[in-house]
Amino acid sequence: MVTSIEQQYIDLHPKSAQLYATSKDIFPNGVTHDTRNLKPFPYFAEKAMGSHKWDVDGNDIVDYRTGHGGLILGHTHPDIVKAVTEQMQKGTHFSASTQLEIEWGQRVRELMPCADKIRFHSSGTEATMMAFRMVRAFTGKTKIIKFENHFHGWHDYAMVGGGALGGIPEETMSTMIVLPPNNISVVDKTLEENGDIAAIILEPTGSHMGNRPIEPKFLTELREVTKKHGVILIFDEVVTGFRASKGGAQEYYGVTPDICTMAKILGGGLPGGAVAGRADIIDMIQLREDPEFNSMQRVGHNGTFNANPLCAAAGIKALELLATTPVNETTDARGALLKDGLNDLLSRMEIPGCASGLNSMVFLRIGVDHECDREVCIMTGADLIKREDPVREHQFSLALYNHGVDAGTRFIMSAAHTEQDIGDTVEAIGRALSDIRSEGLI
Ligand SMILES: Cc1ncc(COP(=O)(O)O)c(C=O)c1O
Repeated sequence: MVTSIEQQYIDLHPKSAQLYATSKDIFPNGVTHDTRNLKPFPYFAEKAMGSHKWDVDGNDIVDYRTGHGGLILGHTHPDIVKAVTEQMQKGTHFSASTQLEIEWGQRVRELMPCADKIRFHSSGTEATMMAFRMVRAFTGKTKIIKFENHFHGWHDYAMVGGGALGGIPEETMSTMIVLPPNNISVVDKTLEENGDIAAIILEPTGSHMGNRPIEPKFLTELREVTKKHGVILIFDEVVTGFRASKGGAQEYYGVTPDICTMAKILGGGLPGGAVAGRADIIDMIQLREDPEFNSMQRVGHNGTFNANPLCAAAGIKALELLATTPVNETTDARGALLKDGLNDLLSRMEIPGCASGLNSMVFLRIGVDHECDREVCIMTGADLIKREDPVREHQFSLALYNHGVDAGTRFIMSAAHTEQDIGDTVEAIGRALSDIRSEGLI
């Protein structure tokens, strides 16, 4: 049975429905990224500017997906458009080193505390895959610890501990150890009992962009425990790099990992990824005057689009703007405004829940009455299940889209969001909450 929310969505998106009729025969589920899957059908976007995007049916949407987190400057920022256009005219691929890549690397080094040396890739998935290989080569050990629900891309090792494990060999699975987060004694005990662990990786603000937060003290504890056992600490800063603060979560929390991975904001809206950190680890890629090392221990790394000039041009401009203008400050302020607006809305509507999250990553939790410190809101067990009701989340996302906001329950802010956008968004959320209330979902 179609709900009234779904019917409204269908009515608002005739052209998207038409495109889906074609796309579903070309792509699995009609989409090219798992999270774009949407029932009854996905919407198809046409253009975007600043904090807004427009779908093919002409619906004007305030966007909080923000290029899956990459667009902290908002859509089509004029300086990025200019930098990319100019580079396009000079050339997009020289099969050679460029001055651009040096500048891009210097910008990363200037901002990210752990970044002594860097290697560029084209995505976050490639960056974590490379990080895993590097730490294994460096330590001569096999296993890597990750935490439940933490997302590190879609390569075989990274997927372990999540769902959709088809095609991953048992041998690969057995090299990953998945532990519960926020429990240092479990980590310590595991390292004590297993001498074959190369590294620990985590999303430093918590899984799925901080949706299930990490307690800040756990980061300090991890740093101590990894030092004690001689194990490498990797922060996956694909989302948090240049967002949790200019220098990522490592700068915000004052905990420096041995290496980190980056992507998203790094590429200024174009594809980009990197591993950065201690020179002795990153130099596992470097050729030596030692044929035995080069053949058996060195980490090989090609990649047609590594440090691609177009991406470098966009990335340099984005990081320059971050370093020299108050991009993070503005984005964080908008996040704070949204959190306040949502918490006020929930109490006015007498809906149990909260809006919380670190700086520019805001999460709306509904359906659970609980204590929340507005930044690190930890929930476990029954509360977590109540909060993540998939039927309610689906109907809420559609209802919110019907009212002109694309977010679901996660709001990734950009500096392009205006105070007016935030006001409009809070109003739209109020309407979406009323819609799901009418459906008996809260
Ligand atoms: C923390 C984290 N690591 C890695 C990735 C993978 O990055 P990409 O999608 O660029 O491959 C993501 C993607 O969302 C991510 O959130």
